[in-house]
Amino acid sequence: MDGLKFIALFCFFFLVNAIGQETCVSFHDSPFSFSVVIGGSVSALFLSEDEWPGVQRAAADFASDIEKVTGRSPKVSNVTTSVKTSVHPVIIGTLGKSSLVDAVVNHTRMDVSSVSGKWESFMTRMVNNPLPGISKAYLIIGADKRGTIYAMYDLSEQIGVSPWYWWADVPTTKQAEIYFSATGCSHGLPTVKYRAIFFNDEQPALQNWAMEKFTNGTGAALTDSPFNHFFYSKVFELILRLKGNFLWPAIWSSAFAVDDPQNQALADWFGIVMGTSHEEPMMRSIPVEWDLFGIGPWNYSTNSEFIYNFWVNGTERAKPYENIFTMGMRGDGDLPLSETTNVDLLEKIVSDQRQILMSVFNESDVTNVPQVWALYKEVIGYYEDGMRVPDDITLLWSDDNWGNMDRLPIPDEFDRRGGAGVYYHYDYTFDQLSQAVERQATRIWVVNVGDLKPYELNIEFFFSYAWNSSLWSYNNLDSFVSSWAQREFDVPISTANEITTIITNLTRWNNRRKPELLNGTTFSLTDYREAESVITAWDTLLNASTKIYNDLSPEFQPAFFEMIQHPILASSTLSKMWIAQGLNNLHAAQARLSTNNLADEVERLFERDYDIELEYHHLLNGKWDHMMDQTHVQYFYRRQPMADTMPPVSRMRTRKQAIPGPMRVSPEGTGQAWPGPNLVSCSMSDTCPVAVISLDTYAPLNSRYIDIGAGGPFPFAFTASSNASWLTLIPSEGYVSPSNTEVRVQATVDWDQVVGSEIAQINFNATSEGQMPMSIPVFLVANRTVAPEGFKGFVEGDGGISIEAPHTSRNTSVANITWTELPGYGKTLSGITPWPRSGNNFGNFTAGSGPSVEYDFYNFNTVNGTGNVSVTVLVSPTLNSMGPDRPISFGVQMDDQDHQTKAFIPLSAPGTLPGEWDGTDGFVANAVVPVTTAWSALPGAHTLRLWMVEPAVVVQKIVIGKLPSLTKTSFTDRGS
Ligand SMILES: *[C@@H]1O[C@H](CO)[C@@H](O)[C@H](O)[C@H]1NC(C)=O
Ligand SMILES: *[C@@H]1O[C@H](CO)[C@@H](O)[C@H](O)[C@H]1NC(C)=O
Ligand SMILES: *[C@@H]1O[C@H](CO)[C@@H](O)[C@H](O)[C@H]1NC(C)=O
Repeated sequence: MDGLKFIALFCFFFLVNAIGQETCVSFHDSPFSFSVVIGGSVSALFLSEDEWPGVQRAAADFASDIEKVTGRSPKVSNVTTSVKTSVHPVIIGTLGKSSLVDAVVNHTRMDVSSVSGKWESFMTRMVNNPLPGISKAYLIIGADKRGTIYAMYDLSEQIGVSPWYWWADVPTTKQAEIYFSATGCSHGLPTVKYRAIFFNDEQPALQNWAMEKFTNGTGAALTDSPFNHFFYSKVFELILRLKGNFLWPAIWSSAFAVDDPQNQALADWFGIVMGTSHEEPMMRSIPVEWDLFGIGPWNYSTNSEFIYNFWVNGTERAKPYENIFTMGMRGDGDLPLSETTNVDLLEKIVSDQRQILMSVFNESDVTNVPQVWALYKEVIGYYEDGMRVPDDITLLWSDDNWGNMDRLPIPDEFDRRGGAGVYYHYDYTFDQLSQAVERQATRIWVVNVGDLKPYELNIEFFFSYAWNSSLWSYNNLDSFVSSWAQREFDVPISTANEITTIITNLTRWNNRRKPELLNGTTFSLTDYREAESVITAWDTLLNASTKIYNDLSPEFQPAFFEMIQHPILASSTLSKMWIAQGLNNLHAAQARLSTNNLADEVERLFERDYDIELEYHHLLNGKWDHMMDQTHVQYFYRRQPMADTMPPVSRMRTRKQAIPGPMRVSPEGTGQAWPGPNLVSCSMSDTCPVAVISLDTYAPLNSRYIDIGAGGPFPFAFTASSNASWLTLIPSEGYVSPSNTEVRVQATVDWDQVVGSEIAQINFNATSEGQMPMSIPVFLVANRTVAPEGFKGFVEGDGGISIEAPHTSRNTSVANITWTELPGYGKTLSGITPWPRSGNNFGNFTAGSGPSVEYDFYNFNTVNGTGNVSVTVLVSPTLNSMGPDRPISFGVQMDDQDHQTKAFIPLSAPGTLPGEWDGTDGFVANAVVPVTTAWSALPGAHTLRLWMVEPAVVVQKIVIGKLPSLTKTSFTDRGS
């Protein structure tokens, strides 16, 4: 074989259908390939009778996938070693289970040591003379049941059948021929042994949808649940195609084993391991099953006999199947057990549960039955207080419900036999998942997927990362998204890259404030044109997405709508509705008639929000009817609102004049309107200040606007004039009426004409028929600030200095650990974190000794002229996952002043979250934690340093001086 042919081989087998994994499929012949479909003929698929039924089932899927792609349906048959055939078959089997495959291995003396005995591993390759009666075949070998199943689904994905072909309507691109590479594909041990999704809070959306699609209108007899074996067949297939293996079923009003007696056997047939959620011990749904079959209270200290037997029954029922038993006990309805419950009782519960497992499974060694103990809320407290469970039980660490890990194993805990895992909500990030891998929490991963849709991409990343984390790092996550886009929409790489940008922005913006936690003042309505930039950005994003949607052929549009267009439409509409609501309230306080236009806008967007929901529900003749039933407006406490209600808006009388007259003057940044008193600056005094606004050289825009608005029914004409030649007013006159309620006048400064600090007086004169003429002054202070020539760094502008964290002046590594950019992470640009996180052996530094970053800056002002400045470092919310002894922290230092070490997450009792964490305006809602320190810094040049202390701190931004709004979005780098 010469080199050229090898190059050709690699080119042929580099396809985009496979995200990240090895590729071994081509649609063109090559010298080293096995033809599966060629010229109208298709290879047969051979299995043996003694194969796992789950593999037999998946082989039928594999055959139908080949047919979807080529129109040719392979014949699937059971054969024996004496089979004779002149055509070349695909031989499929599990080592040690399929007599056929074992015979092939024996006959060819093939080396299968790379997969043999390795959990879920597989290999494929072409072989000559696999058996006496066959001259050539393609072998698909799994180390165990799921290994073989994954091998087939891996090939299905590569030939062009998306794992989401049914769940997200991804079309299959047709091909005339299919070839498999001779050397094949293979995969070893997965990173995470058990990889699960968990349906949760599935009422109303998933449940209503399933009721319509999988039942004849009524759910299960005892539970009313629609989650029967028709539903779960779809779910199990999806999990396997995504290379997952484990499920926590829907629990809200469901009980997996009761809803449909076929459910448990079906899971096992497919090859899915079943468990029950963190609050449901011993394979029984709580509270549903206890309410149905339990006797007495759910309290082990008073009712242990009945509960014990209840668990025995659950264990016997699950015995024939593959399970992971959840150990321990929680109170009814996912609430903590009563206060009198103590650690001793919980230890007794676990011990009794193990006794049940031993006797039901007739096992002398209970460690052969997989068990998990969920460290959730109060149970983390018990653990930190010293409660332990046997070493073979997997410890499942959990997050805070928002995707931030409460805690992860520390090095002392790495050696447990049962290992550790994580229970996660869908808000997870690469940052948190990669820490779980580093901290060896890789035995079990469970992600709470809510209703499953529309988290398709997120779920796939979760499973892909759990399957093989070594493929993904902070610097190639974009390529995951772009290969996903290419696979799902069959678009060229350039479009896939556009889609990647769209998804990055969608995710980033929804993370600034989760949509259900938005309110009218989430984004500043007065400073830095923040709310306006948010609206413009959403519009730009929606236009970009709509263009791609329109360019797709109609068969690809539903998939794109479900996974990209709908989330953008829905998120942008909701954001815009809330901003309109905030402005409506503000304009009402300012006595501006435009209040009414904004009220109309809120109502229009509120209705639009439902139109978008209906559009989703009507897609594909109602295939996803109800899937977007979830209420999402005014979601201000733990439970969902019972209905979407429009947020309160104000209206102003259209027939009655505001007291001060027809004209309202509202200068940018003040939140006020003149003339007349107002809440912000003269709520208590009789004489109100005149309007003063200011601008300096380093402000991002060299203009300010003044809105001239109607104060009632009387139209008026106005002029705008100033006494300064360096100020331009556009427009300098206008006409305002009830049908044209606002005119925005831009005041632009020509800095070449300004010396030092100068003040311009702008006069707005209004005349209106039958009304007194009005003349309102606005003073604009133009402050020409100048940094010394040659200064390099950030220069104060517009009242502060805002620095994107990766824009360092200097970056100093220590012990091979470097503050490293995590692209795309954070609210505006990215974040930086000391990398590798496990460097220094998970150890910490004292401030001043570890890796550091520096930022040079130049300030003109200090706080009230005191010579001091305040520095706010915006860090990502990260819980103290190294345990209470090592609170997450970093050091800050101004010039050569003493550094300050900041542990920025307040300590809280184990298993509880700090008060600042949750809430509609907490750390999580804002997606940043502001860490503020005070320093002496006279006007001039300075250097700010950040020091690593503990790993896993992610810094997004640094703001020196004024901090108007934590959600600042337009407030990016300023300065040279
Ligand atoms: C192969 O054998 C198994 C076990 O008897 C059976 O369930 C399956 O249907 C057979 N497959 C075919 C294609 O006949
Ligand atoms: C493997 O092949 C040898 C002959 O080469 C034969 O004796 C033996 O029985 C075979 N074993 C199996 C499991 O097929
Ligand atoms: C609904 O009714 C049809 C026709 O009687 C039946 O075949 C199907 O199994 C029923 N589905 C369920 C979920 O009971």
